[in-house]
Amino acid sequence: MLERARRAYREACGTEPVWGAVAPGRVNLIGDHTDYTGGLALPMAVDLWCAAVGGPAREAGRVRIVSADRGEGAVLEWAEGESGVLGEAVGRLPRGHWARYAAGVMAECEAAGAGVPRMDVAVAGSVPIGSGLSSSAALEVAVATLVEEAAGVRLRPLEKARVCQRAEHVWAGVKCGLMDQMCSVMGREGHALLMDFAEATAMPVAMPADVAVIVADSGVRRGLGEGAYGRIVEECERAREALGVGSLREVRVEEVEGIEGRLERGLARRVRHVVMENRRVEEAAAALRAGDVVRCGTLMVRSHESLRDEFGVSCGELDAMVEILTDGASAGESGVYGARMTGAGFGGCIVAAVAPWAVEDAVARLTDEYRRRCGRACDVYRVRASGGARGARLG
Ligand code: GLA
Repeated sequence: MLERARRAYREACGTEPVWGAVAPGRVNLIGDHTDYTGGLALPMAVDLWCAAVGGPAREAGRVRIVSADRGEGAVLEWAEGESGVLGEAVGRLPRGHWARYAAGVMAECEAAGAGVPRMDVAVAGSVPIGSGLSSSAALEVAVATLVEEAAGVRLRPLEKARVCQRAEHVWAGVKCGLMDQMCSVMGREGHALLMDFAEATAMPVAMPADVAVIVADSGVRRGLGEGAYGRIVEECERAREALGVGSLREVRVEEVEGIEGRLERGLARRVRHVVMENRRVEEAAAALRAGDVVRCGTLMVRSHESLRDEFGVSCGELDAMVEILTDGASAGESGVYGARMTGAGFGGCIVAAVAPWAVEDAVARLTDEYRRRCGRACDVYRVRASGGARGARLG
């Protein structure tokens, strides 16, 4: 990955980069659409990466940002009379341009007081783009880590995640929660992270040795910037206001039954999912700690049903994948403990917990059946829980 980023840098700038950094994508095992309401989630950083390399800007007053795999690059330039802060130039990049994520992070690092050297940047990644595995967060966190390397500063992990989240809010226009950025910063090898967004904490939970994690990409794409995600975030906020609570986390499981009388139907469904999903996350973390992968798998399937039926963010292709893996045979026979859509939804990926001996079979079944039922191919990855972002020496 670093090598591809280096090559892109060399082609664009004609020199060798000086600093390097890598940051992982993530897969969320359980707990979706809970982070922006102060809830719980259980993601793990995965061994799919974004690499960023940089070197002092070649031309005064111009900063280049290029990518090996995201299409055309961008140049940051300043007009006469501007003060020369990064934000001024980033604001002129076209809306929806991928470089807003990278340059936005540099601008937010600068706004947070980290002296950001004017550097040309190249990125390359193996996280499939826009598939729900946090390709954006990996890009953001890789650039933030590159800034740390170049400026010789160390941001505190939570601060770094927040800077990246702010970049996504301000410069990409997506009002995301904090899960993806925290996971990419704080990932721990061999562990999932139990995240509590009321406190913004992440507690490592060891992944049992007898479970393999598979991710399958439906190939269906719908960007978060298109508005559906933002509307859901707003609905959850309206539900919070209507209930008169500080955060949806305060709504107890026992209150969920009667919630319909207190809220309009659409909002009640949002709240029911969020409250029950938080409970499922707690139970899944406890099950993993106890090595009870069967229970964990059952909770994953319940989570999928809730995201499909209550929350309404799944789609036919994701439902088909989950069905192919979990219908019929028991977990004991098929070795598939559970599966669910993962991330924001509307396409993207599913995640499955599978016995290591059953991986090959499950992958073959999924690939064949998915093509037959949905008429398209799916990419399947076996992923491993990996460490978080780090600086990389360019030797
Ligand atoms: C996206 C957002 C996250 C989170 C998930 C859904 O990945 O970036 O903050 O809200 O969707 O769980």
